[in-house]
Amino acid sequence: TFLRWTWRLTYLSALGGTAYVCYGIWESRHPPDQSDPDPSKKTLVVLGTGWGSVSLLKNLDTENYNVIVISPRNYFLFTPLLPSCTTGTIEHRSIMEPVRNFLRHKKASVKFYEAEATRIDYEKRIVFINDDSEIKGEINSTEVPFDMLVVGVGAENATFGIPGVREHGMFLKEVGDAQQIRKRIMDCCETATFKDQSPEEVKRLLHMVVVGGGPTGVEFAGELQDFFESDLKKWIPEIVDNFHVTLVEALPNVLPMFSKQLIEYTEKTFDEEKITIRTRTMVKNVTDKYIEAQSTGPDGKPKLEKIPYGLLVWATGNALRPVVKDLMGQIPAQKESRRGLAVNEYLVVKGTENIWAVGDCAIANYAPTAQVAAQEGAFLARLFNQMAKTIEIEDELKQCSDAQERAPTKEARDQVFMQIKELQKRLRRVKQIGPFEYSHQGSLAYIGSEKAVADISWLTGNFATGGTLTYFFWRSAYLSMCFSTRNRVLVVVDWIKSKLFGRDVSRE
Ligand code: FAD
Ligand code: NAI
Repeated sequence: TFLRWTWRLTYLSALGGTAYVCYGIWESRHPPDQSDPDPSKKTLVVLGTGWGSVSLLKNLDTENYNVIVISPRNYFLFTPLLPSCTTGTIEHRSIMEPVRNFLRHKKASVKFYEAEATRIDYEKRIVFINDDSEIKGEINSTEVPFDMLVVGVGAENATFGIPGVREHGMFLKEVGDAQQIRKRIMDCCETATFKDQSPEEVKRLLHMVVVGGGPTGVEFAGELQDFFESDLKKWIPEIVDNFHVTLVEALPNVLPMFSKQLIEYTEKTFDEEKITIRTRTMVKNVTDKYIEAQSTGPDGKPKLEKIPYGLLVWATGNALRPVVKDLMGQIPAQKESRRGLAVNEYLVVKGTENIWAVGDCAIANYAPTAQVAAQEGAFLARLFNQMAKTIEIEDELKQCSDAQERAPTKEARDQVFMQIKELQKRLRRVKQIGPFEYSHQGSLAYIGSEKAVADISWLTGNFATGGTLTYFFWRSAYLSMCFSTRNRVLVVVDWIKSKLFGRDVSRE
């Protein structure tokens, strides 16, 4: 009986899973009719199509506002799997979701402009936008007025003004970055095998240097070493003796946001994978062929050394975008803020009344992560939905009060009085929205050789784990978090493809 029930349950869950996927596919291909925006409603402008803004748009009832979205990127990017795109474990389109698709599924239509916000005039309530794509029409810059504005433009790559980083280093933030890195890895390998290349030059070309031991640097280093071990080594055996990955970090250890036990586990795993970690090493200068880094010598004195490289990936965290810096400069209450737009507990930009900020460009005492940005976006959607309901109920209340005054009989007056009571009760309920509270679910990072580390918030405490089982957890967690059924299916297919056939070593 037990076996029969186990079989039935497995069968039912497989059936349920298939039905869920099929429904997801069907639904994504059949958007319902949309209503037009109501011009009497307030204009809500949303900047950006990243984690914060998209989470807001996903949860927002667009019938309540005239919503306009402005972003230079007409897609959402699932950043946690971006390091896997640098080696072809996952194809970049599998983690991109066109904003047009999901905006088309909203109840009321939403305007989207593919443009960069170059300036926000908060007093005049105008956003200046510029089309910086390759194809430009007769008009490529204009203004968009707003009643309410959400700034979700994320952050730039930090370089700390170190000379040569922008010219010679490669970042890992956008799809284009991952594509360039993938190309560069293969270029270095092919150039290193060019006829009559000197041994020093081969060594340099095959030295892959990653600067920044935060999760971006660690995950990329792990993915790159995997690529070498499972594919490059097999197809280009000439590079075996010289291919080497080095991770450079200024602090005493990598992954500072993880627990001590997981930091040690990561460092031990990297050692086994033959990735060199150079901690307490600060890069000071970058040229086209080497980096200059300062570390502490055995005598305790600072030592400056030249480290030659073929590929340099720069992952030293976030910096302010110019549009955010400019907005901060216009608002006296932002004078003290350095790392981003200071916001209050309702994510209102301090010193303004009608501008909110979410994600990496906002400073709300949380780490700049996708998790925080997504929760902030969802909170704002709830807040805006409630605000719209409040206005609606207040209008109804006003109408009821007028009706009560005009009511010809006592019965009619009593009836309206009951309606007013009910509306007032609803209004009190709707107005009860507490401030934003972040709920930390934990931190996850892939560290290569099918191992991951996880610091998970578990009921009352924290639970730290690392290894192959954590890797399966990492995979299933990120798969479930992918934006759409389409993304999930594509990511799974990519994983299967790279396992069965290996990663593609051709250079596009
Ligand atoms: P973003 O997601 O960066 O989106 C910003 C949006 O604004 C983009 O659409 C951009 O095109 C647009 N934009 C930029 N400039 C302008 C402008 N001037 N006008 C209008 N629009 C503009 N976090 C985690 O929690 N877990 C992870 O596993 C994880 N992995 C990561 C891996 C990598 C490789 C990277 C780079 C980051 C990772 N993060 C992770 C961090 C996470 O991606 C960010 O914290 C998150 O993207 C922040 O969301 P956001 O909405 O603020 O900005
Ligand atoms: P980060 O800010 O987390 O780490 C950057 C590292 O670079 C720091 O440890 C810093 O000491 C080091 N550094 C700075 N300048 C240096 C120099 N000149 N020489 C050597 N080292 C130098 O940046 P990262 O990894 O880009 O992450 C950005 C944000 O995105 C973080 O909040 C992170 O938590 C989040 N993220 C989360 C991931 C995850 O949860 N799996 C994955 C990737 C990013």
